[in-house]
Amino acid sequence: MGRKKLYATTRIKTHIKGFDELTQGGIPNESIILLSGAPGTGKTIFSLEVAYNALKNDKEKVLYLSFEEKKNALITQADQFGWDLKKYSDNGKLKIVAYDSEEIASKISFFTDIHFFIDSIKPKKIIIDSLTSLTFLLGSEYKSDGTSNVDTFLYQFFKNLKKKEDVLIYLISQIDRTDIDIPARYMADSIIEFKEEEYSEFGRSVCIKKMRRTQNDKNVHMLEMSKTGLRVHKLGSD
Ligand SMILES: Nc1ncnc2c1ncn2[C@@H]1O[C@H](COP(=O)(O)OP(=O)(O)OP(=O)(O)O)[C@@H](O)[C@H]1O
Ligand SMILES: [Mg+2]
Repeated sequence: MGRKKLYATTRIKTHIKGFDELTQGGIPNESIILLSGAPGTGKTIFSLEVAYNALKNDKEKVLYLSFEEKKNALITQADQFGWDLKKYSDNGKLKIVAYDSEEIASKISFFTDIHFFIDSIKPKKIIIDSLTSLTFLLGSEYKSDGTSNVDTFLYQFFKNLKKKEDVLIYLISQIDRTDIDIPARYMADSIIEFKEEEYSEFGRSVCIKKMRRTQNDKNVHMLEMSKTGLRVHKLGSD
């Protein structure tokens, strides 16, 4: 009789071309993943593709909490790559919630709000875009002049997300090199770094800096934005 593997890692595929093989077939489940990078490096497009693939290939529900772009802007961006998010938004499989500063200020608790959506929709993947904007919108007590408050907020934020066991992965965008960057990097299970170097022939790139509970490729790989979506070109191939 073979020994039963009690603690095998369940792996979550992004279905992004060339990406899952960098993580031995997928990201370990119940992971909080930071998508870290400067503006325009592809964090939102990566999130939209993960959302679309989850809806289409895995028949999962997705919750997208947007603190930067409006729902229509996200749907239009996805449409440019041929990902019909409107269909899933219309049939209720995808919930996009776009917040503005007044809405955030009026919330008694942002966490109660997130938990309400999680409990009513039961999404398997949750996207928070972005932590940088969320902390900014939350008001002065979390702004960069009060670093310790930022740390406290981030601690509560990650702890609250961990409470929801049915969620497979969270993707959280954030601008790198900000005051929230360093503590968030410690608290997250994984960090995926996006870069765009104008004067390098490499152009866009992606690199997995950290991924708990799995081995991961740590090289920097070229990230192509093709007409149909993202493609990671692994070093030494293609
Ligand atoms: N249809 C498209 N085809 C090719 N490239 C595109 C297309 N749409 C957007 N881009 C590129 O993607 C970039 C935007 O990517 P994205 O919105 O994912 O960045 P981001 O990392 O989320 O930035 P921010 O931090 O400002 O939100 C644009 O600056 C542009 O260079
Ligand atoms: Mg973005």
